[in-house]
Amino acid sequence: MCSTRCGQGPMRHGAAAPSVTAMNAAQNPVALVTGASRGLGRVLASGLAKGGYALIMDARDPAVLDGAVAALPAGTRVWALPGDVTDPAHRDALHGAVTEAGGLDLLVNNAGTLGASPLPPLASYPLGQLRASFEANVIAPIALIQLLLPTLRERGGAILNITSDAATAAYAGWGGYGATKAALEQASNVLAAEENTVRTWWVDPGDLRTAMHQRAFPGEDISDRPLPETVVPAFLWLIGERLPSGRYRAADLFPPGRPGVPGDRVPSGAHA
Ligand SMILES: NC(=O)c1ccc[n+]([C@@H]2O[C@H](COP(=O)([O-])OP(=O)(O)OC[C@H]3O[C@@H](n4cnc5c(N)ncnc54)[C@H](OP(=O)(O)O)[C@@H]3O)[C@@H](O)[C@H]2O)c1
Repeated sequence: MCSTRCGQGPMRHGAAAPSVTAMNAAQNPVALVTGASRGLGRVLASGLAKGGYALIMDARDPAVLDGAVAALPAGTRVWALPGDVTDPAHRDALHGAVTEAGGLDLLVNNAGTLGASPLPPLASYPLGQLRASFEANVIAPIALIQLLLPTLRERGGAILNITSDAATAAYAGWGGYGATKAALEQASNVLAAEENTVRTWWVDPGDLRTAMHQRAFPGEDISDRPLPETVVPAFLWLIGERLPSGRYRAADLFPPGRPGVPGDRVPSGAHA
């Protein structure tokens, strides 16, 4: 399992990284981040590595994934598995890497698709692309949760599902993508009610300057959108403080420009 893309060595903690509380204090925590080769997944994986996490990462393009692994802090234990989260064999391989790593403390379901671009109205949304979006954004995360719940329960771990404001707001053109994120949100909501030992968070990161966002606005200048790096402190705060299960917005946890320690309040609607 630990192939040429697996680098192992002594764990190194990044001095400048926000403190991430180890969920399993006896050893370095392990996180699985899907879609970790670029965008939000890449910078979040990097932030977790700086906080001492061992990483299991995936994405479909092996070369880009290799680039993300190469940029991790030296000494990070990482299993990088190229593959598609919608492929059951790939999910089994991720499960195998978790076993090899000794268990899992954090599952980040970040990989996802925008679906059709330019964004079509629901009246003409291509149903094949809609099905594919549900496979990537809903079925795959739930399938990974099913596979990994036993180890997450055992270690008192957490699940972080990346969602969107399109799950709740009615933006013209966003009906396909928004429907998948709404489904992921409700699945997360129910999971939080069903699982007592595992935290479940579903988080809207806000608009971010990434490849996916550019696909939503083809040909447009999106340089006014914040880089994904800007929301990493909010995510690390949520994870490190092990906030109650619930829906969060990164902007509420750590508003841009706010000095000091982020997240001095838990957004309403969160439940333990
Ligand atoms: N950017 C925004 O403004 C925004 C706003 C709200 C929510 N979000 C959510 O944030 C998450 C990350 O988005 P992003 O903007 O960072 O996207 P991105 O820049 O397009 O990155 C997506 C990552 O996921 C991987 N990926 C995509 N489909 C995959 C699949 N089927 N299997 C495995 N890996 C896959 C991609 O690599 P490969 O293509 O090589 O597989 C890449 O590493 C998504 O869930 C998105 O819905 C983004």
